[in-house]
Amino acid sequence: MKEEQLNELLYQALETELGGVQIYEAAVRCAVNDDLKEEWEKYLEQSRNHVQIMQNVLSELDLDSQTETPGRKVVRHLGESLLEAIEMARSNGEPEAAQLVAAECIVLAETKDHQNWQLIGEAATKAKGETADILQEAHDQVEEEEDEHLYHTMGWARELWLDSLGIKAVLPPPEEVKDVKSAIGAARAQHARRDMM
Ligand SMILES: [Fe+2]
Ligand SMILES: [Fe+2]
Repeated sequence: MKEEQLNELLYQALETELGGVQIYEAAVRCAVNDDLKEEWEKYLEQSRNHVQIMQNVLSELDLDSQTETPGRKVVRHLGESLLEAIEMARSNGEPEAAQLVAAECIVLAETKDHQNWQLIGEAATKAKGETADILQEAHDQVEEEEDEHLYHTMGWARELWLDSLGIKAVLPPPEEVKDVKSAIGAARAQHARRDMM
């Protein structure tokens, strides 16, 4: 495995988590649905913990968490753009629309977050010695939460959109009710949504 590119992944993972915290802070302010607000508050706390976990990983691997890379700058730029999009929607003064934008922005941010941790998990199986242990331990603490962040929020975004269209929605979404933690589970939950109405 290429060590330099592994380091790049870890810097990007930290930057993604830092952006995630800011996006959740903004999203919580946009939440109209009480269940969703509670969910995003939980994910905000978990993302704060993920920042801590990533900072520990970097320091245990003797990497400086302040290191800038071109890829990391791109991740920051995307995060700031999502944040701006949420603020734009919020300033338009339509709470339901802003909540929907926030849900979609979270799905975009969590797609990257989820992939980072999937890659960290893969890297842990290829790394050697202490590096493998450090990556594996971090991965085991975070992975299930990332599954929830992505799949449950995808469910919220879909059902809130349906609701906004005047189509009968399942709220909270099937992904949350069925406690989905995998892509297969998310597909099954979507399949079951008609029976849940
Ligand atoms: Fe995370
Ligand atoms: Fe996440």
